[in-house]
Amino acid sequence: MMETIANKINVSLTPNSRISELEEGLNNFGRVFSDHMFVVDYADGKWGTASIQPYKNLSLSPATSAIHYGQSIFEGMKAYKNKAGKTLIFRPTDNIKRLNISAERMCMPAIPEDLFYDGLTQLLETDKAWIPPHEGTSLYIRPFMFSTDNYIGVKPSDTYKFMIFTTPVGGYYSEPVKVKVETHYTRSASGGVGFAKAAGNYAASLYPAKLAQKEGYHQLVWTDAKEHKYIEESGTMNIMFVIGDKLITPSTSDSILDGITRDSVLTLARDWGYTVEERKVSIDEVVEAAATGNLKEAFGTGTAATIAQIAVFNHNGIDYELPAIETREFSNRVGQYLQDIKRGKIQDNHGWIVEL
Ligand code: COI
Repeated sequence: MMETIANKINVSLTPNSRISELEEGLNNFGRVFSDHMFVVDYADGKWGTASIQPYKNLSLSPATSAIHYGQSIFEGMKAYKNKAGKTLIFRPTDNIKRLNISAERMCMPAIPEDLFYDGLTQLLETDKAWIPPHEGTSLYIRPFMFSTDNYIGVKPSDTYKFMIFTTPVGGYYSEPVKVKVETHYTRSASGGVGFAKAAGNYAASLYPAKLAQKEGYHQLVWTDAKEHKYIEESGTMNIMFVIGDKLITPSTSDSILDGITRDSVLTLARDWGYTVEERKVSIDEVVEAAATGNLKEAFGTGTAATIAQIAVFNHNGIDYELPAIETREFSNRVGQYLQDIKRGKIQDNHGWIVEL
């Protein structure tokens, strides 16, 4: 993919950089945007000429089909700077492949992998001054695609826009999270689009999450749509437990996002000799483990959230407190290790890092 001849990308640079806003972005996740964006349109069955332009508002018809029927998908990835000031990206190929998996499910065209990659790397080169150097910070990258036909009949659009913009960020959560196990509402069901990074999945989660937030929880833990018995994922993250000496996580399915951080954590755990179980995880098993003191750790994994420690989980009105964060041997170790790989501080034995 990376050896192909670079796609032609027209570049027009902003005369007014907003780089002075970078620090503000680090304390306000996802609210400050870097100077440029990558844009390419799809029409007549093919992708057109791509461009890098100053970040700006789009002009759209009120009839834009994505607004009405939700053909809209996205990805989340991060870029870092190593000590030598070089740009490092974590597992970009996996995000590119996953976007196209989402695209297929949502009847959208695939984006050629080399076009996505060239746009991504040229955008990062253009805005490299926006990659913050400090531990705990990164440049969050948001690739996305949406349908652009001006038509209110329900059908797959004939035209699309693929774009990438970036935003300098610090942590997504500012503290270990309190989560509530949801046993009424569902995020997705088997046969649905839960495995796709489709905008509508996030819209569907907002109302139940708002109810839980009113009760003092940061996020929900979703359970299966049929029986509300098996754990699926949590908010914007996959979820993992250390029960006894095993790392246990729900296996992926068509209702769970196949997380890239999830896969990285499981790979490292196996490398380090942990017993890893990817299988159905019932909420009863987790409650039982908490009651007997066997539940040692619980945490979420995600690009934005990285490793997010779970301090408390609530099920059926009962709060279960988890062991103190500093006792959590596996998640602390894997969290630090991933940080260090991403910043080029330790050797990457898995081919996860791309240095620009
Ligand atoms: C990510 O972790 O990159 C995500 O896509 C979650 C996002 C909704 C904040």
